[in-house]
Amino acid sequence: MNPLQQADIGPAYLEEQEQTLEERIAARKRALADRLLILGHHYQQDSVYKFADFTGDSLKLAREAALAQEREFIVFCGVHFMAESADILTGGTRKVILPDLRAGCPMADMAAIEDVEWAWQELTGVAEGARIVPITYVNSTAKIKAFVGERGGSVCTSSNAERVLTWALGRGEKVFFFPDEHLGRNSAYALGIPDDEVVVWHRAKPLGGNTPARLQKARVILWDGYCNVHMLFTAAHVTAWRQKDPDIKVIVHPECRHEVVRLADKYGSTEGIIKAVAESPAGSSWAIGTEINLVNRLRHEFPDKEIHLLAPFQCLCSTMYRIKPAYLLWVLDHLARGEVVNRITVPSAIAEKAKLALDRMLEI
Ligand code: 13P
Ligand code: SF4
Repeated sequence: MNPLQQADIGPAYLEEQEQTLEERIAARKRALADRLLILGHHYQQDSVYKFADFTGDSLKLAREAALAQEREFIVFCGVHFMAESADILTGGTRKVILPDLRAGCPMADMAAIEDVEWAWQELTGVAEGARIVPITYVNSTAKIKAFVGERGGSVCTSSNAERVLTWALGRGEKVFFFPDEHLGRNSAYALGIPDDEVVVWHRAKPLGGNTPARLQKARVILWDGYCNVHMLFTAAHVTAWRQKDPDIKVIVHPECRHEVVRLADKYGSTEGIIKAVAESPAGSSWAIGTEINLVNRLRHEFPDKEIHLLAPFQCLCSTMYRIKPAYLLWVLDHLARGEVVNRITVPSAIAEKAKLALDRMLEI
């Protein structure tokens, strides 16, 4: 969670016509030219996404941020942990800006550093000298990344979680995986790790709700975090689509529950989902289990394919949706006046350790 408060940007922005906002953003972008880089995650609404110089999943955007050494400002149209990662990867040398400070990721906030430190102590206490390698999904706070970096672990994203898990299991007997239980479980399953060697650490319970014997046997210990958007997709949705259209292909994000991922034809990061749909032949039909803005965009981009949301109701990431054209213009107007608002900075003591974990991921 960002400790800074989002300022009230006022009616002059909030009540402005969409078309005018877009013209003004385009003009600011032209004026700021090479000083500015706008990064846009695939869940951004189109009215913001269209202004991104680069779009991508978390991994691709982290790489773009790391390469953006010549830009003065990086405006991150995404959520808070993404902007934090960009600040860490650029070593604090660029000004990274989040247009609305309320754009957090609830899953990232499910692993509080105090709880993780406590759990680590408890786990190492019962693990009988076994080496435990921590992995954190990129959807986590900088403090968690620093915790992981300091203990020889790595960050992962939805597109490299299996690779990072393989790397970690080659270095230690156990992996403690934060904060997404489902990405962790789906990755462990893909690597053939038996179910009885995978346990969930329930934050609020002593020993995470496990017996010492269970933790001693476990190879993968999963924090009990989740994404409330991807939890909306169920196995029944997959079955219903298959009954309706036996030729349909189901693709989901690995933040979905394990039973949904197992029933799907494919799973992948947002970038992976786009690639799978783009490469499919004309006339293919898809039911997609991820955020609605991406699914709607695919529907418009591929009118020769039949594209449906896997669930029969809207699945919107309400925090991603906080980045609106009015907020984007508000930060750009300030930059044009030489004022930086909504800058995301990670204190250097945390950033240095977090960078170890991010750099390890980029090397793996
Ligand atoms: P991707 O890295 O697949 O874009 O996922 C980010 C995210 O927050 C998904 O909910
Ligand atoms: Fe976080 Fe889920 Fe939104 Fe992704 S979709 S940013 S995991 S809340």
